[in-house]
Amino acid sequence: RLLIIDFGSQVTQLIARRLRELDVYCEIHPYQNVTDASLAEMSPKAVILSGGPDSVTRPGSPRAPEALWTMGIPVLGICYGQQAMMQQLGGEVHGGKISGGGGTAEFGRAFVTPAGQLDLLNGWFANGNEQVWMSHGDHVSKLAPGFEVYGTSPNAPFAITADTSRHFYAVQFHPEVHHTPKGAKLYENFVKLAGFAGDWTMGAYREEAVERIREQVGDKKVICALSGGVDSSVAAALIHEAVGDQLTCVFVDHGLLRKNEADEVVGMFRDHMNLSVIHADETELFLGELDGQSDPETKRKIIGRLFIDVFQKYADQIEGAEFLAQGTLYPDVIESVSFSGGPSVTIKSHHNVGGLPEKMGLKLVEPLRELFKDEVRALGRELGLPDHFIGRHPFPGPGLAIRCPGEITRAKLEILREADAVYIDQIRKHGLYDEIWQAFCAILPVRTVGVMGDGRTYDYACALRAVTSVDGMTADYYPFSHDFLGETATRIINEVPGINRVTYDITSKPPGTIEWE
Ligand code: XMP
Repeated sequence: RLLIIDFGSQVTQLIARRLRELDVYCEIHPYQNVTDASLAEMSPKAVILSGGPDSVTRPGSPRAPEALWTMGIPVLGICYGQQAMMQQLGGEVHGGKISGGGGTAEFGRAFVTPAGQLDLLNGWFANGNEQVWMSHGDHVSKLAPGFEVYGTSPNAPFAITADTSRHFYAVQFHPEVHHTPKGAKLYENFVKLAGFAGDWTMGAYREEAVERIREQVGDKKVICALSGGVDSSVAAALIHEAVGDQLTCVFVDHGLLRKNEADEVVGMFRDHMNLSVIHADETELFLGELDGQSDPETKRKIIGRLFIDVFQKYADQIEGAEFLAQGTLYPDVIESVSFSGGPSVTIKSHHNVGGLPEKMGLKLVEPLRELFKDEVRALGRELGLPDHFIGRHPFPGPGLAIRCPGEITRAKLEILREADAVYIDQIRKHGLYDEIWQAFCAILPVRTVGVMGDGRTYDYACALRAVTSVDGMTADYYPFSHDFLGETATRIINEVPGINRVTYDITSKPPGTIEWE
């Protein structure tokens, strides 16, 4: 294995991700947990020292365990990791602005110029110099004995250094981030020279994750709020594989789901995957409390509050549950690293069950915390979840309520469900589903006049929405052809009683949001 010693950088998980992309197995351990003894026990084949927010010039700041330097294995230090390495091996680090040394800090894009041949840099410097991403206050001011310089930048004379006889490498910049375009190549070279075969797979990840869940949960019970979204679905499937019947899922049906959605989700998990799923049909409760409400925030608050009440009610029936499973992904984990305290993270609670773990005295199981969305999808495929399920567009917790501006009625919800189903069917039939981040129909709170056959109609108008996006933070409307839009409008009006006008929403985000409320 490859060990990453975490000094608390915001981007340590990206190092792990780069290594997984190279099919290399790695583990991240906070520096506090890595002692001479645990290092010997883990016996890694190579070690990467991450960046971090502290200053090595501060007394008591984090260090690598001393035993690391005599294990005879390749070590790569990044940013703070570089500085710690240099300082521990007899070099010097100059304090920058942040740690009070007055030196030059460097944040953002920089260009490194080569200063020698190095195996770590094979394939680098094709164009004379190479763009890298810097983020440091301190810098190395004197190399440790045995080290030489292989790359410099205007503000970091020791941007790339190495002691090739001991296979110690140290870089000031962050090769794991997107803005170091050839960073992946540097990791590839490092794992190659460390002798990794690159034969680790998502299948192996699955086995390790299962082991970890078993260790954490033991023989205790776990409950999970299953939404049918990719994250909670993959988390549930994985935990089920680990602890079987000890897991019970609660599927809260608020009556604001899409056509056939409840049956599909419950059917798949209960029948196809053999999970214990409680179908909490609370349509009456939700629609009852939403009756007469038209303010978007009020609707959201009602749904959020009821969701927690309902989940708690069903969870209370599962005697002895000690763990709550959540499909928290790495991007949901907000890094908050204090300058004195070293690595620490706080969780952005899942919007649906925020506050629940404390309220119910539950411990969290979050097996996807290290993964990014595309990796979760790959893991889902590995676990046998069907492709069409894994590739589904995001669906918001408050469901159709935020696609039904104004008052929510059962009749409007029924029309919306039908129109949405026709629209999505059209998108799938034209092979466009996977090109679109999210597509849905909204029913407008107005009725307009139309003519069908020889008669007058006075029915609802609906809006089609389809956007492209990478993360939902910004979005652009999808450029459907006029033929597609015309055909879809005709189908909806013909097939969905209650709709006589179809519009296409061409607002980007910003200024619009993706959802209508
Ligand atoms: P907006 O409408 O804010 O949506 O541009 C961005 C993304 O977030 C989803 N969304 C939600 N997801 N609970 C969720 O789980 C919510 O309350 C919620 N509100 C919006 C939305 O579908 C889009 O993908």
